Amino acid sequence: MKRHEALIPLSRQHHQLLLAGQLLKKDAPPYKGLPTEPKGKAAYLQQVFEGLWKLHTQAEEVVLVPFLKGVDQEVDRLLEELVDEHQQIQELYDSIDFENPAVNTMHALGELMVLHIRKEERQLFQRVQEVFGEKLRELDLGID
Ligand SMILES: [Fe+2]
Ligand SMILES: [Fe+2]
Repeated sequence: MKRHEALIPLSRQHHQLLLAGQLLKKDAPPYKGLPTEPKGKAAYLQQVFEGLWKLHTQAEEVVLVPFLKGVDQEVDRLLEELVDEHQQIQELYDSIDFENPAVNTMHALGELMVLHIRKEERQLFQRVQEVFGEKLRELDLGID
């Protein structure tokens, strides 16, 4: 299903965040001049997390979740899981020692980010478009 216009700003951000998640994995191939060693990856993670990730998850929790909640059981279940995942991801991020980052922790964080974003794209957005249809035009995320 083609992404609804109202969700495209989030989908665009997902694309960038997915890239960051993939890079954190142990077996990540070199990509367009992005860091390849743990400390460089951790610094890159910090930059993405304090910037885009924070803005993105805030838009989801403050604007998207209240807009979608209470209409469809399946959507509500997914929203609950996704907000829990934000919390788990945040906790893992907070546990990283940026001077001496643990490769396994960054790998786990990368995997969680990738699974989380795929769930939003493939399950949440999919279901939301089926349930809400053109009502999504009323959603204003305040980002472009
Ligand atoms: Fe999210
Ligand atoms: Fe997201």
